[in-house]
Amino acid sequence: MEKECRDFRQLEHTGWERAASEYENRWTDLTSHFIEPLLRSVGVIDRVTARAAAGVAAGAASGAAPGLRLLDVACGPGYVAAAALARGAVPVGIDFSARMVARARARHPAIEFLEGDAERLSFEASSFDAVVTNFGVPHLARPGNAFAEARRVLRPGGRFGFTVWGVPERNPLSKIVGDAIEVHADLEIDLPEEPARFPLCEAEECRRALEGAGFDPRSATFETVRAAWRVPTAAFLFEAEQKGGVRTAALLARQPADRLAAIRGAIEASVRTHAVPGGFAIPAIAHVVAAAATA
Ligand SMILES: C[S@@+](CC[C@H](N)C(=O)[O-])C[C@H]1O[C@@H](n2cnc3c(N)ncnc32)[C@H](O)[C@@H]1O
Repeated sequence: MEKECRDFRQLEHTGWERAASEYENRWTDLTSHFIEPLLRSVGVIDRVTARAAAGVAAGAASGAAPGLRLLDVACGPGYVAAAALARGAVPVGIDFSARMVARARARHPAIEFLEGDAERLSFEASSFDAVVTNFGVPHLARPGNAFAEARRVLRPGGRFGFTVWGVPERNPLSKIVGDAIEVHADLEIDLPEEPARFPLCEAEECRRALEGAGFDPRSATFETVRAAWRVPTAAFLFEAEQKGGVRTAALLARQPADRLAAIRGAIEASVRTHAVPGGFAIPAIAHVVAAAATA
């Protein structure tokens, strides 16, 4: 592994070990919005149209494939695996943070959770019917390696699905934080470079990357999902980044007090523009991308 990737992975690993205890309270209300579309993209949940046609009430849990073997990569506290279990699948979760794995096991004792690296899975070929990762991809040094590994452990025809955030120009949540950092942060700090990565926020790029890893491009789907993330205070987003995040947290930790206060103030001011009764609703956009392993 080249030094750039090693340093990035080390920053991520140290960061997630540190953030594990805060992550659930800070971020899972947000990332949970995307679990249902993600599970639908790999066939764990029936498509809404199929459910409607069958007269299934909206919101009712509807497993599409009982016994479907599902791998939840970069599982964090295990919410995706738990939702898959509730739909009749047989999930296994992996995460490279021992602390995240410990939290997932404590939360969901009926599910197997293992320590493991998304880029080097320890499973035999064709072990799973579906592989998913909910916001794991943006944290990988080499996402292409993780795609290839997902393909390897999937049976032919099995589906791989992942979520990524929309680009800041179209995603208010990312723009709030990105703008505050761009205006107020000292960016000349000692922080490992993000490795050059293929842009995974556009359908065509995703299709190409998936095809390169052995997925059938004709089976690829790219869905844009919008959420309104309810937070109780204007400070919540800044504190989530600072205490329950990784890369932005590392950047914030390296700022002098005056710049840190300015970043905090700018983020809080932007969040206040999304006031609703009882708190704030920050618009967030993510893409749910999926494709089937070639036969
Ligand atoms: C943003 S969290 C997502 C957690 C969870 N999937 C969810 O839906 O909330 C990213 C997770 O990816 C894990 N992670 C990052 N790089 C990884 C890698 N190379 N292999 C396995 N897990 C990794 C982190 O430990 C963290 O739990």
